[in-house]
Amino acid sequence: MNIKEFISTKGEVINEALDKYLPQVRPEELHQAMRYSVLAGGKRLRPILTLVAAQLVGEEEEKVLPAACALELIHNYSLIHDDLPCMDDDDFRRGKKTNHKVFGQGMAVLAGDALLTYAFELLAEIDDLPAERVLLATSKLAKAAGKQGMVGGQAADLLAEGQEIDKQELKYIHTHKTGALLEAAVSMGAILGGASDEQLFALQEYAQGIGLAFQIVDDILDIEGDAEKIGKDVGSDLEQDKATFPALYGLERSKEMAAENCQRAKEAINIFGEQAEVLRKLADYIIEREY
Ligand code: IPE
Ligand code: IPE
Ligand code: MG
Ligand code: MG
Ligand code: MG
Repeated sequence: MNIKEFISTKGEVINEALDKYLPQVRPEELHQAMRYSVLAGGKRLRPILTLVAAQLVGEEEEKVLPAACALELIHNYSLIHDDLPCMDDDDFRRGKKTNHKVFGQGMAVLAGDALLTYAFELLAEIDDLPAERVLLATSKLAKAAGKQGMVGGQAADLLAEGQEIDKQELKYIHTHKTGALLEAAVSMGAILGGASDEQLFALQEYAQGIGLAFQIVDDILDIEGDAEKIGKDVGSDLEQDKATFPALYGLERSKEMAAENCQRAKEAINIFGEQAEVLRKLADYIIEREY
């Protein structure tokens, strides 16, 4: 199995569902702004992880599709807000102008707000899975997205700009601003799919490994990446004096650390044997990716 083809095929399924979930209705400008960012591309890694985790524990992918999309909507809200002038002040995302550059800051804030709220609407309306699983998955996502998850990490990231921070604080930033949603992606698939405690524990451990590796690689790509390929401006972190792995550890050590976390992720899912091959390949893809 070729992992890039796998990502592209599953990505199509996600794209189709997202398009369906976001009809162009009134208020038109708001929906346009939401659709602009959500349908601009993106690897769809988080929703794919939700589908794969559910399938691994024996659930039909289709049943977790709304939850997978909910995650992608929250991810997109976080990106729209992350790019605002008051945050990272970036002009390009997914090869296109950032949301506020096209729709203005006010509409970009509102598009983000609406995507966040809509994600929970999609979750609350799942009616073909046991309600207690949906409730637990919803609580997981709320925690992962919120004050002690992604938003908490973004706050720490903002406060660290231009500051000297230690390794522990840097790890906090990365595991929260990025790791939390990746962990939620995997956990939600597992929970909605009816995973046992042992399976859930292993998958969470896996997600923590890929979560940290993912943001370390994102930091590396901000230095060494090709702007065309990553679809974002290179050098944004240096410009904003961001706390990154390369800034604290150097590029070489950062690459080793990404690889170590990928390895840790792969080992965590040994209990699934051959069945977890896709997750192993996704972990490798995360550290080998060029965008
Ligand atoms: C970018 O995430 C923001 C981070 C958390 C590093 P992705 O690299 O997954 O962005 P898309 O969704 O593929 O555009
Ligand atoms: C993004 O981290 C984390 C979130 C959006 C939650 P970055 O600020 O490094 O992401 P990019 O590089 O802008 O995609
Ligand atoms: Mg940021
Ligand atoms: Mg950013
Ligand atoms: Mg970055």
